[in-house]
Amino acid sequence: MARCRCSGRALCLCLLPFVMMSHLLVYIMVSIFVAISYRPEPQIPLHFVASGASSNSGDLAPHPLTNFWNLHLVEGALWNRFQHLQDRQHNPILRSNHTELMGPNTDPNYMHKTDGFPSCHPDHLWASQLPDFNTMSEQMQDFVLSMHCRHYSLMIDQPDLCSDQDDEKEAPLLLMAIKSQVGQFENRQAIRETWGRSGWVTEDTGGNRWRVRTVFLLGRQDATTGPHADLAALLKLESSHHKDILQWDFRDTFFNLTLKDLLFWDWLSIHCSHAHFIFKGDDDVFVRTGALLDYLKEHIFPSQDGSNRTKGKEDFLVGDVITNAWPSIQVNTKYYIPESFYKGVYPTYAGGGGVVYSGALASRLRIVSRWVSLFPIDDVYLGMCLHRLGISPIHHQGFLTFDLPEADREKPCAYRRVLLVHKRSPKEMLRLWRTLNAPLPEC
Ligand SMILES: *[C@@H]1O[C@H](CO)[C@@H](O)[C@H](O)[C@H]1NC(C)=O
Ligand SMILES: *[C@@H]1O[C@H](CO)[C@@H](O)[C@H](O)[C@H]1NC(C)=O
Ligand SMILES: *[C@@H]1O[C@H](CO)[C@@H](O)[C@H](O)[C@H]1NC(C)=O
Repeated sequence: MARCRCSGRALCLCLLPFVMMSHLLVYIMVSIFVAISYRPEPQIPLHFVASGASSNSGDLAPHPLTNFWNLHLVEGALWNRFQHLQDRQHNPILRSNHTELMGPNTDPNYMHKTDGFPSCHPDHLWASQLPDFNTMSEQMQDFVLSMHCRHYSLMIDQPDLCSDQDDEKEAPLLLMAIKSQVGQFENRQAIRETWGRSGWVTEDTGGNRWRVRTVFLLGRQDATTGPHADLAALLKLESSHHKDILQWDFRDTFFNLTLKDLLFWDWLSIHCSHAHFIFKGDDDVFVRTGALLDYLKEHIFPSQDGSNRTKGKEDFLVGDVITNAWPSIQVNTKYYIPESFYKGVYPTYAGGGGVVYSGALASRLRIVSRWVSLFPIDDVYLGMCLHRLGISPIHHQGFLTFDLPEADREKPCAYRRVLLVHKRSPKEMLRLWRTLNAPLPEC
């Protein structure tokens, strides 16, 4: 037995090299076979001509034979169709090509006729393009009937807001433009006494003082616009006292808020075009103005014209940035936009509780807005204008348009990194202002 086992082991040892050699042989044969069967790709010709492209382009790059631009948007919601035409109209390459529009009398310039256009009376032209117009919400119907009009007169103006208050003619670093409504007296007063105080405001760190101006943007809200008490006389009094109210002659409703931006940009271009930064926000937010000044002073740049003046960057807009949002499909919310009116994702925009942008950007927004059809939701509209300027808003975590966690709202330390928080009542503003201006406990 022992001998036999021993010779078996010897046999194994003798055969092992042969087994290994045969494996190696198989491997070499397979490798050779693979190498022989490989054929190199044919050489790509230097002038590659894609199918469907013009081939006789010579030295020029080939271009598509069929239309590259989408000239017609046949299936689209009303806003998309109209904007599509406008975008094409203001595309420098296609500008000269007048194609037939959605129907008679729909010249894109029609929307912008101002002086020539008889009035801002309701116009059924757009309504007639909407098959479901009669079943739409009242606010949507109102919007569609007046979306051709964007020029309303000023009822209360403040031409000297930016110039005569202080002796110095220095440009305000920050102009706070706050959307308010006639009846919101208490909000406005609380803002004046806290975060929206006009005058020289000290930044939180560093101790520099900067010029800040505040103005409130109002529409009309009286007996003629629904069940509103007539507060016109009170408003007059408030305005003569504080000189910080702008009021235009249009119904102050949610879907008309976009008008406040457009009309404010017009006003700004005349009366305060040298402001470095604009804060645009609601009257139910709380802003840590000193901290905001700290942040903004980092974004001032020397002006291009060689003088010692400074200026905010032309593409500067900061806020709570929202991307890939879709129109609300919940029929009963105030944000609901029917699919027959707008289709698709919203462009990137900054939540409307409050945003800050440079004065230089404001004048660009004013110009581009002429080519962007009115849209019922103001912060989305701002996003649409930015999109056409090729500007991306900057996201800042200090803009809390959805508030702090409930448990933190009373803790002063939780506000350390906050620039803006939504939403706060006038009483909460006053309380928070006092808390945050007292020396903070160790955080
Ligand atoms: C202009 O529009 C017409 C009608 O839609 C179209 O046939 C033509 O190709 C367009 N021209 C250019 C240069 O796009
Ligand atoms: C906006 O204001 C105009 C002018 O007052 C008015 O005709 C229109 O109905 C308003 N739109 C909405 C959606 O309230
Ligand atoms: C800019 O400021 C400097 C020093 O502060 C001054 O000497 C110069 O004259 C100023 N230039 C202009 C164009 O105002």
